[in-house]
Amino acid sequence: MTQSITIRRPDDWHLHLRDGAMLQAVLPETARHFARAIIMPNLVPPVVTGDHAAAYRDRILSALPDGMSFEPLMTLYLTENTDPQDLAAAAASGLVKAVKLYPAGATTNSASGVRDFDKVRGVLEKMAEIGLPLCVHGEVTDADIDIFDREAVFIERVLDPIRRATPGLRVVMEHITTADGVDYVKSQDSDLGATITTHHLIINRNHILVGGIKPHYYCLPVAKRETHRLALRAAATSGDARFILGTDSAPHTDANKETACGCAGCFTATNTMALLAHVFEEDGALDRLEDFASRNGPRFYGLPVNKDTITLTKTAEPTVFPQKIDSNDGPVTVFDPGFPVFWTVT
Ligand code: NCD
Ligand code: ZN
Repeated sequence: MTQSITIRRPDDWHLHLRDGAMLQAVLPETARHFARAIIMPNLVPPVVTGDHAAAYRDRILSALPDGMSFEPLMTLYLTENTDPQDLAAAAASGLVKAVKLYPAGATTNSASGVRDFDKVRGVLEKMAEIGLPLCVHGEVTDADIDIFDREAVFIERVLDPIRRATPGLRVVMEHITTADGVDYVKSQDSDLGATITTHHLIINRNHILVGGIKPHYYCLPVAKRETHRLALRAAATSGDARFILGTDSAPHTDANKETACGCAGCFTATNTMALLAHVFEEDGALDRLEDFASRNGPRFYGLPVNKDTITLTKTAEPTVFPQKIDSNDGPVTVFDPGFPVFWTVT
């Protein structure tokens, strides 16, 4: 039986750190295990220019506790008014590593997102030219499309046409939740990658709805049926370099989750690496955890793999994770996998 496994220090290729008191509270949870993260720009107001990204990066670095190291990889929030020159300058300086596309209204703080994809054509062409990846929230928002079908419909109606119209554009399908997403990635070349979250490897839609509504399992894209979860597990543990860990750890206060119209997002920064060790062990793929969490991301983004390592150790007793993280905005519930986990990061 494997007692411990040492892997290159992981990175998180999709992370929400928020701002202010929440940033202060959640940043150490990520920086404890992860060296770098792609920082989502859906603040209020969103991070839309190079100047905004530079200022946000400074706020993140000043919130980092003494003795911890962490490199935020900044992104810009794509709007119909994004200036290709500003974006190219922010990429050339090394500040910005990707651009995030939210279809308007698709998820938390996405109101400034894109409605008319023709309006961002010039920006996408510029990105293809300079090799700057586009991170895509892949859900259509049409009222007549069922929420469980929104990812599959997005691939066919929006993503595939955009990619055909913009050859050479590097795209990350963020937080895929369906077998359709997995199959689409596999059918394409290495210009297309996909992040997979920790929680989508663990929960299906029953976890949200059976036995009472569980707001802390509600996130977007919403978890799908079990066959889709199994397809995600197979993809993440396959060693295929196009599947990348992006936790989408998305903190909201309990007050904002446990209410009549609760926010979408699971907060997994605290226990993600232990949960992934459990998942990969269960699937007989512990030797592929390093690919998923530490190697595939840098490879897609053209960055070096981290030099240092972390060690995951098997424990005799279930690891006790904090149930909540305190912030000055209020408590944030840590994702509960619903089973005991016998792994800890040492
Ligand atoms: C994210 C958030 O809270 O910002 N929520 C979520 O459910 N994943 C937004 C997102 O990534 O869709
Ligand atoms: Zn997200």
